[in-house]
Amino acid sequence: MSNPDDNLNPNDPNTTGHEWDGIKEFDNPLPRWWLWTFYATIIWGVAYLFLFPSIPLINGATPGFLGYSSRADVAADMQKYVDANAAVDQRIAAVDLDQIVGDEALLNYAMNGGAAVFKTRCAQCHGAGAGGFKGYPNLVDDDWLWGGTIEDIYTTISHGIREASDDDTRYSEMPKFGEILEPAEISELVQYVLALSGQNHDADAAAKGKVLFADNCAACHGEDGTGDRDQGAPNLTDAIWLYGGDAATLKESITNARFGVMPAWAGRLSESQIRQVATYVHQQGGGE
Ligand code: HEC
Ligand code: HEC
Repeated sequence: MSNPDDNLNPNDPNTTGHEWDGIKEFDNPLPRWWLWTFYATIIWGVAYLFLFPSIPLINGATPGFLGYSSRADVAADMQKYVDANAAVDQRIAAVDLDQIVGDEALLNYAMNGGAAVFKTRCAQCHGAGAGGFKGYPNLVDDDWLWGGTIEDIYTTISHGIREASDDDTRYSEMPKFGEILEPAEISELVQYVLALSGQNHDADAAAKGKVLFADNCAACHGEDGTGDRDQGAPNLTDAIWLYGGDAATLKESITNARFGVMPAWAGRLSESQIRQVATYVHQQGGGE
């Protein structure tokens, strides 16, 4: 067996003594450039630790001596846009509501801003295209519960509907007729509402329902059933339903009533934003 050291060049540096199948590990010093780079990263790391937010705590992180915050950066960026739009926002908040539509620059701004507000705040309930769902009215048709002028829409959005936290909210309350009338009477009313809306019905029952309607319902829905916007009482003679026009849904509406609630936005949106989204809804097609 030959001495492994026989193969060594006398100029080679020392080995570490490790050997695998005749392959030996030199004990070379680390290259200078590598070592200094390594020390530099350690210094960099420690400096970063003190200067920037870094060590995670239960709520947030150590703030760092430079006071840098990515949140503050975002806030400043957003403030830039608020400042850039301040002039037009002030005008929208100050002019008469119907003047917005007449001014091309204001209208353009209001439609874009209103669409953005609608997508974030209103689409969950009224649908992305404002087409509505059961209990959440369609805002693009000509049928309005509380009125379709720009002022009406503005009032609805500002103060909401049956919104307990707003003293100026639109309010009315249909009684739960299940607690007032007999089931047979409710069935007769269902037949009468079917008749009013031009659907198949039992004529005898509807005739009895007509009398009950005049006594119990006409105060809100009108003698002829076409509704009353002062009370948000829907028109029952057309094919547009908030909850549904089939016999089962009518029975449910009359027995338990509905009490739909829409949030008030005054205080949560700026005056300009409320006017923008009111304009947007008004321009969607069904505005009066
Ligand atoms: C939490 C659900 C909800 C949200 C969010 C909501 N609404 Fe409504 N909205 C309703 C309901 C429910 C009604 C109908 C209430 C009733 O029965 O009278 C309504 C009614 C309306 C009406 C009256 C329609 C008519 O026929 O008179 C307008 C206008 C309206 N909403 C606009 C908006 C706008 C604009 C937003 C966003 C800023 C919004 N809504 C956000 C639930 C909502
Ligand atoms: C105090 C006013 C008031 C009275 C009285 C009243 N309603 Fe209503 N009714 C309303 C309102 C407001 C709504 C809208 C739903 C809600 O409460 O959010 C409504 C909704 C309805 C609906 C649902 C319509 C739809 O589009 O889905 C039906 C059906 C209805 N009423 C029938 C009646 C009948 C029948 C009577 C009489 C027995 C009656 N109402 C009495 C105010 C009234």
